[in-house]
This record gives sequence, structure tokens and C-alpha cells, in this order.
Amino acid sequence: MRAYYYDNVAGDQRLLHDSPPSQSVSEERLKELNVLHRNIPLAGHEQQLDRVMAERGYKHRDKIHVSKEGLGEIYESKIKAFFDEHLHEDEEIRYILAGAGFFDVRESPSDAWIRLAVEPGDLLVIPAGIYHRFTTDMQDDIEALRLFQDAPKWIAINRNAETESNVCRVNYLQSIGVTAVA
Ligand SMILES: [Fe+2]
Repeated sequence: MRAYYYDNVAGDQRLLHDSPPSQSVSEERLKELNVLHRNIPLAGHEQQLDRVMAERGYKHRDKIHVSKEGLGEIYESKIKAFFDEHLHEDEEIRYILAGAGFFDVRESPSDAWIRLAVEPGDLLVIPAGIYHRFTTDMQDDIEALRLFQDAPKWIAINRNAETESNVCRVNYLQSIGVTAVA
């Protein structure tokens, strides 16, 4: 998985948005933001995922497939909705099985976007309370496993003035040692 600062250049969200000079982001920096990444080879991933799930108290997993072919007419609107900046009150854990895509996470307190280019074998843990968004790449096809506890609250809460005082947002900022600004 490559991680770099998003270039904020206008254009299709599915492009790399990695204009030169590319500004890489280290795994250490991601850890400071509580964004965890691990590479688990596809061969034998089931057992390793079982272990990760036991560690984090996750009991279920299901498979999602986001593709132009699979979603048909609603694909473009779905992809746009995934790209609205939002947060969740639970962790979002994804293990990529096929295809590729981008998770953008907001760095705090800079408010810069960090783009995470995921591919098969990437396990990504996006913490509760971090602003983020998702898009496929230009291939329009990604397959992933979602890991979760019994009743995940996957409601996407789009960023607005009120989300700054959401308890998950406040807890998240506290966990990374950043004082809330609003
Ligand atoms: Fe999300």
C-alpha cells in the first residue's frame, strides 16, 4: 500500500492524485493517526484474518464487490457517495481481495488528505471518528472483505459543524493527542 498526500488537483477522483513531487507518508505517521495497515498475503489469508479478528474482537466478515458491471446504472452515484467526506462510530476494517482503490483519510490537525492506495493483500483499519472517503481507481473494480463485530454502526455521518462535537470524533482526536478545534 502506498500512502501519500493527495494533490488536491481538480479531476476525476479515481485518478492517482499524486502530482510530482510525490509526498510520501510513512507507516509511522499513519500509526500516529491510529490508521493501521498490515500486509497479509492472499495465500493463506483466512487463518491470519481469523487471528486478527480474535485480537480485535471481531466475529463476522462478509465480502463486497464494487464494480461498474455489478452495480450498473447506480455505479456513478454510489461512487460519488462513497467519496463524500464522512466518519463512522465504529472502526472500518477492509481486507482487499482483488482490484484496487483509494481510501483518503484526513490528517489532524493539518486537515490534509492522505491517500492510501490499496491493493490485494492490504488490511486496513480506519479508526472510528476519523474523516475519510473512498473511491475505486480507473479500473472501477474492487473486491474486499469487511470485518465487524455483532452490530456495526456503518452509518456514514457526513462532515459538518456538528460532527466536530460527535463523541467518536472527540475521542478520536484525544486518542491522537490533538485538541479539538471547534
Ligand atoms: Fe466509511
